[in-house]
Amino acid sequence: MLNFASLPPLSLYVHIPWCVRKCPYCDFNSHEASSGRSRHPASRDISASLHVTIPEREYIDALLRDLEQDLPRVWGRIVHTIFIGGGTPSLFSPEAIDRLLSGIRARLPLDQNPEITLEANPGTVELERFQGFRAAGINRLSIGIQSFDEEKLKALGRIHGREEALRAAEAARKAGFDNFNLDLMFGLPGQTTEQAVADMRTAIGLRPTHLSAYQLTIEPNTLFHARPPTLPDDDTAWDMQNQLQAELAAADYRQYEVSAYARPGYECRHNLNYWKFGDYLGIGAGAHAKITAAGDAQGCASVARGGTPGATITRLWKVKHPGEYLRTAGTAASIGGEQKLSRHDAVAEFMLNALRLVDGFPSPLFQERAGLPISACEPELALAENRGLIEWDTRAIRPTPQGRRFLNNLLELFV
Ligand SMILES: C[S@@+](CC[C@H](N)C(=O)[O-])C[C@H]1O[C@@H](n2cnc3c(N)ncnc32)[C@H](O)[C@@H]1O
Ligand code: SF4
Repeated sequence: MLNFASLPPLSLYVHIPWCVRKCPYCDFNSHEASSGRSRHPASRDISASLHVTIPEREYIDALLRDLEQDLPRVWGRIVHTIFIGGGTPSLFSPEAIDRLLSGIRARLPLDQNPEITLEANPGTVELERFQGFRAAGINRLSIGIQSFDEEKLKALGRIHGREEALRAAEAARKAGFDNFNLDLMFGLPGQTTEQAVADMRTAIGLRPTHLSAYQLTIEPNTLFHARPPTLPDDDTAWDMQNQLQAELAAADYRQYEVSAYARPGYECRHNLNYWKFGDYLGIGAGAHAKITAAGDAQGCASVARGGTPGATITRLWKVKHPGEYLRTAGTAASIGGEQKLSRHDAVAEFMLNALRLVDGFPSPLFQERAGLPISACEPELALAENRGLIEWDTRAIRPTPQGRRFLNNLLELFV
């Protein structure tokens, strides 16, 4: 049985499932925008220049119905961060984002200083649009650059070139975003370490507060999986990562997670909440949620055994397909699945998240978030320590450099 002295911080994830074009490496729940047209004749063309049509009014209505349905799960709790991800949320108009945020504020109490992030694709950017997002209350942008190299952008099937990528970062700053992230990928088809470093130097030159550097992975159900491009081998990719880390460290970006680097104080609060096994609601097609309930500790014998009746961690996800989601949002039919975590799941999922953090976690956080004493996974921790994959002192349990390099081997010990 689980036991929580208090509930974890709460975040809200909002999924927007459309893109202008599907990238051949991407396995996110994202669909080419034109596919929404025929099913939803009321669709509004939000960006004629992009020739895409999205049912944005209907989708915002659906998101708000979805949120209403989830509210009883989090009565009275404050939302600290909101992340509007995708897909390509920057395809939505500032008016639609404004209506979404107003609707969220009317239904949920927000932190006094919430972090509100929106993901943007450089191919969908105009200064005016970014200004509109800022006015609607977005205070952090995450821009999917991937590379500044024209040839690599083509190989990745991106809808933008180098110039648009550069302009997107400039537009973010001009629109008043003093906090923005750039996503880069490395280990690209035919990429050399010099090319990866050149991309990173260009990104650093744009002075974002945050940089994400993802090694390109080949995911099932993608075009790259069906027709794999030639990628740099593991040793070259490891060398690239080390050189990128050195560039970032020299420019005062501190690595705090496997792929995440930030200027001091600009770590992504939303993602940190995931990695510290906090709670989150998820609205939108295919969105996932994780919600803790503290249960009822009143006068029950099981409390003496270290648990609280009714204390649970629940995972919940919404139906994936945008059409089905639009039809069912706000009703039980929109729930794709729901699962209460077992003790074993709670241990595994906590570790899969927290051991991604360079600083690891203070050991009391395990009881706070997984609802179990740290002794519940002492044998696995001891094994990891013996193999040199973690270190454990009075302040924290953290992965060693070896544990970070062979993170999968470390995480497997808990699964
Ligand atoms: C969901 S995407 C959202 C950003 C936006 N749609 C775009 O691509 O411009 C978030 C990030 O995941 C990363 N990503 C997606 N597929 C990946 C893959 N197969 N390997 C590594 N990183 C990937 C990309 O860096 C991307 O910017
Ligand atoms: S634009 Fe982003 S979310 Fe859309 S397909 Fe490409 S990587 Fe995936």
